[in-house]
Amino acid sequence: MAYLALYRVWRPQKFTEVVGQEQTVTALHNSVKEDRLTHAYLFCGPRGTGKTSIAKILAKAVNCDNIIDGEPCNECNSCQDINNGNFMDVIEIDAASNRGIDEIRDLREKVRIMPAQGKKKVYIIDEVHMLTTEAFNALLKTLEEPPESVIFVLATTEAHKIPSTIISRCQKYNFHRLTLPQIVARLKEVSNRNGIDIDDEALDLISRRANGGMRDALGMLDQLCSYKDGSLSKTDVLDVLGLVDDLFVARLIDRVIAEDLVSTVSMLSSALNQGKEAGQLARQTALYLRDLLLYKLAGQEAELTVAGEQSQELIKQQALKADKNQILHSLRLIMDTAEKLRFSEGQKYLLEISLLEMASIFASKQNQNEHDNISRKEFSKPRIKGESDDSSAKSERNDAREILWNRLLLGVKEKKIPTHALLSQGKLLGVKGDTIFIGFRKGYRFHKERMEEKSNREIVEAVIREIFKREIEAQFIFLEDNQYNDIIVKKAIEYFGEDIVEVKE
Ligand SMILES: Nc1ncnc2c1ncn2[C@@H]1O[C@H](COP(=O)(O)OP(=O)(O)OP(=O)(O)O)[C@@H](O)[C@H]1O
Ligand SMILES: [Mg+2]
Ligand SMILES: [Zn+2]
Repeated sequence: MAYLALYRVWRPQKFTEVVGQEQTVTALHNSVKEDRLTHAYLFCGPRGTGKTSIAKILAKAVNCDNIIDGEPCNECNSCQDINNGNFMDVIEIDAASNRGIDEIRDLREKVRIMPAQGKKKVYIIDEVHMLTTEAFNALLKTLEEPPESVIFVLATTEAHKIPSTIISRCQKYNFHRLTLPQIVARLKEVSNRNGIDIDDEALDLISRRANGGMRDALGMLDQLCSYKDGSLSKTDVLDVLGLVDDLFVARLIDRVIAEDLVSTVSMLSSALNQGKEAGQLARQTALYLRDLLLYKLAGQEAELTVAGEQSQELIKQQALKADKNQILHSLRLIMDTAEKLRFSEGQKYLLEISLLEMASIFASKQNQNEHDNISRKEFSKPRIKGESDDSSAKSERNDAREILWNRLLLGVKEKKIPTHALLSQGKLLGVKGDTIFIGFRKGYRFHKERMEEKSNREIVEAVIREIFKREIEAQFIFLEDNQYNDIIVKKAIEYFGEDIVEVKE
């Protein structure tokens, strides 16, 4: 099939052809009908949602020779020339590629010359937030004394970068991401009209991936058509976009939350062996976690980006198991990894590590709750005179150790969440002299070894320095015993004698 450039062919040509943006469309359409157009508009909103398209409809509407009910005819010379980009009085400036002041200076000189071809000159300035301060000032001068026969349409994806002096001189319209049903419906229409045979699941997947941008949705459909003739399915979309099935990601996260490290690692390597890219996988995982977070917060109402029909049951269960902060931390972690993978694709271990770290974030739920409570306790507990018999001295020591450990975890968490995730799988054995001893049980070799790395060790030592106000070295110890919790105190005593905790402030 020949390359279609669907998004160009399918640019809405009239107000009534625009999908969504109802308020903007109605307001502008009415202004045309009632001849109440103003001289400057500011269109703000995400990429590919119709800003340039509506600017062009507006440009046609003011120049059309036989306007019908406020709509351009798309047949007269003016309309056709504007559609083909050959109309002298519609001037498009892309501020992103012509950042300089020259364009605007040029504009200031020419703006007062009467329209050459049509009734009104229309300046469409795209990505207007990219203009330099000088260019903004020049534009402002023009907006302050706008010539009669000129309309400005300024478009931007980053409204907050536009000076308020400019905004106050424009009529502002906010463009919104298109909804999933709006995109699906449009893609269906486009497919039908172009004889593209594509099933609903595939359309659903593309529409979710477009994240509210119609241009991207049409672009993906295009890509798919040039990839393969005949009927198109979800598998084709996955192949073309290099994606794994959303159900796969849902299952992967399921294993992560269950702290099933073996399955996590083996699922990951099977995906990579099938030729999926680590970076893409990390990005999909990030999107899935975002979905999970939304689901956690909004339930069925949430509009999910990657989790489709099949994943609904899993995501529902996961939202019950995981808490908000854990999801959020995991999301940050995987986004960080996705970013790193952009520069070092092929490092599959990077992704593996971050999934394993994530597992410990989910596993640390209990720890988290514990030290949230304990951090409220005072660090140095008042000692009641005469009360310190043997057992109470021991339990006080354990209390002190627990408090110290929680304070340490908290401090590390503030500095670096992944380090906290690793450390929280350990246990404080004690402080003796200038050394703090932290133990890891057998299954946590990975955590122990990561903690021994310079960057992680330094974080721990920095927090300890803050607590003790002196230099203390961290030692990570391997505990061979599986019955970790019961034996931990015994082990510690074995290593360091009775007086293992030496907490001073
Ligand atoms: N609201 C919409 N209704 C129908 N099609 C749309 C809509 N928005 C975008 N499209 C499709 O996407 C293409 C690009 O849209 P347009 O150029 O208007 O986006 P934009 O908002 O100006 O994006 P950018 O910020 O990247 O300049 C259009 O040609 C059309 O195919
Ligand atoms: Mg545009
Ligand atoms: Zn016309």
